[in-house]
Amino acid sequence: MSTIEKISEWKQKRDAIILAHYYVDDKVQAVADYVGDSFYLSKIAAKAKAQVILFCGVSFMGESAKILSPEKTVLMPDRLADCPMAHMADIGKIREMRDKYEDLAVVCYINSTALLKTYSDVCVTSSNALKIVKALPNQHIFFIPDENLGRYVASQVPEKHFIFNEGFCHVHKGILAENVKKTKEAHPDAQILVHPECTSDVVSLADYVGSTSGIIAFATESGAEEFIIGTEMGVLYELRQKNPGKRFYSVGHSQYCPDMRRITLEKVADALEQMSGRVELDEDIRRKAMKPLERMLELG
Ligand code: 13P
Ligand code: SF4
Repeated sequence: MSTIEKISEWKQKRDAIILAHYYVDDKVQAVADYVGDSFYLSKIAAKAKAQVILFCGVSFMGESAKILSPEKTVLMPDRLADCPMAHMADIGKIREMRDKYEDLAVVCYINSTALLKTYSDVCVTSSNALKIVKALPNQHIFFIPDENLGRYVASQVPEKHFIFNEGFCHVHKGILAENVKKTKEAHPDAQILVHPECTSDVVSLADYVGSTSGIIAFATESGAEEFIIGTEMGVLYELRQKNPGKRFYSVGHSQYCPDMRRITLEKVADALEQMSGRVELDEDIRRKAMKPLERMLELG
């Protein structure tokens, strides 16, 4: 029996659905029931009917699914797949900012640990951050953990005061403006599409800035035929499926997230068969972390 057949058999036996982020390996995306960006997948996880949710992504994604669907069994094919940025904020600094600004909203990128979420007022993803920050009544915004996404949102919402945090995504930080310019020189007709986790000098070169699903939608709807992709190259799978005639160029050779790449078909099959890689959370943390996530789903 092939690994794909094994996955399909165990998926049925376990009453499971498979969710996969656009950054995981193509072969894993191909066996998933739902593939999308962080916001889309969190909405699917929140209303899933199946008893088991197998999440192909990094730790904060499985945690968010468990927070929103506590009665479900949430499995992750590799529990070591973790987003380093999810840990890059300090609770002491959050307390300090709350003391300093009475009218403060702690806005927490979903790429964060469950514990960080418990200290936050609302979660956001790259596809809803602008809408949610604009909708908040607060004047002062402490944006954690990603500085680049925070700065991008701040540039679009000049009427609010932002405090930034020094977290970053090493994959997007590794996309350099000089390499984007060189790629554009080689392909002058290509449109530059970047994720807001990129640094501001890269964002300033872009024709479009948005989440992974935003990038895919933009390229699909655009009349242009060539695109320079400033995000993790897992998006190519969906981009090429939706746009077989268009051409996509990477900026460098390291546009792959090593944590997302830990997820393999074999690990998916093993997790379903053995019911391994369960996401378990302390109930107090889960309940407190649910509030900012639910607020995101309401406002987003
Ligand atoms: P989106 O899914 O919101 O595009 O975010 C990208 C990301 O870094 C997920 O880890
Ligand atoms: Fe984290 Fe960056 Fe990997 Fe996304 S691409 S999971 S932000 S390290």
